[in-house]
Amino acid sequence: MIPAPRSPGTVVMELDGARFLVAGATGEFGAALARELSEQGCELALLGRDRERLEALAGELSATSGRFDARDRAGIEPAVNALAAGLGGLDGVVVSVGAAAFGGGGELAHETVEDVFAINALAPIALVSAALAHLPDQGAVVGVTAIVADHPTAGVAAYSASKAAFSAYLAVVRRERRRAGGTVLEVRPPHMDTAFTERALTGEPPPLPEAVDHLEVVAQTIEALREGRRELAWDLESRALVAR
Ligand SMILES: NC(=O)c1ccc[n+]([C@@H]2O[C@H](COP(=O)([O-])OP(=O)(O)OC[C@H]3O[C@@H](n4cnc5c(N)ncnc54)[C@H](OP(=O)(O)O)[C@@H]3O)[C@@H](O)[C@H]2O)c1
Repeated sequence: MIPAPRSPGTVVMELDGARFLVAGATGEFGAALARELSEQGCELALLGRDRERLEALAGELSATSGRFDARDRAGIEPAVNALAAGLGGLDGVVVSVGAAAFGGGGELAHETVEDVFAINALAPIALVSAALAHLPDQGAVVGVTAIVADHPTAGVAAYSASKAAFSAYLAVVRRERRRAGGTVLEVRPPHMDTAFTERALTGEPPPLPEAVDHLEVVAQTIEALREGRRELAWDLESRALVAR
């Protein structure tokens, strides 16, 4: 049976007591989302690369944690399996891993393009793929892509392409899980007030619009997750986040 369409305000996922794996929890957006999930009563397992920030957040949220590097994909499935086993299963997975590289279509070294795809597409796909083995039919997948997945941007060629790749993967997983009623939420934020662009692998960003408060995006992500939405994206006309 195909589940009935979800109307705004209808709660389809109870977060209190839900077990979530958050990958990219060491990032500003990932950490804020993990804090909010914890606030809502979720039990958390955190994945990140930076040891110090990971351990500090795990201590703060009484969470288990594991380290991974997106460029070492062989380590991803074992890390997900270990954390999922520690929680006794998963009800949801969040992937907020990402890094930009600034440069036009002909400007980036191929090694940089490979890193951009490893961090924004191949590792996120490997993380979701490994987590799916632990998720029930009604479980939730939350993938953070970016506005450039919708609107590929001059001077951001490889990053736009890599986020579009993860976006397409999430769309397919959503289609595959639709009948069972599980949520696959893609969050496509616009430029946010984190230091993300300062951590780019290479290059200087093109002129950027005013940054959106990442805590506002976190709050709307939680709402969209509860309501079982498909996407939370920036509408260029109304200049607002819209959940669909
Ligand atoms: N901020 C924005 O303007 C903006 C706009 C649109 C979309 N986004 C997306 O939002 C998400 C969160 O970004 P943010 O603003 O929170 O930036 P951030 O603070 O730089 O977080 C990036 C996250 O990705 C992880 N990461 C980067 N390279 C990695 C690697 N090689 N291996 C493993 N993990 C790696 C970082 O881990 P460590 O810190 O442990 O290294 C961190 O957890 C990203 O997917 C980004 O693409 C951001």
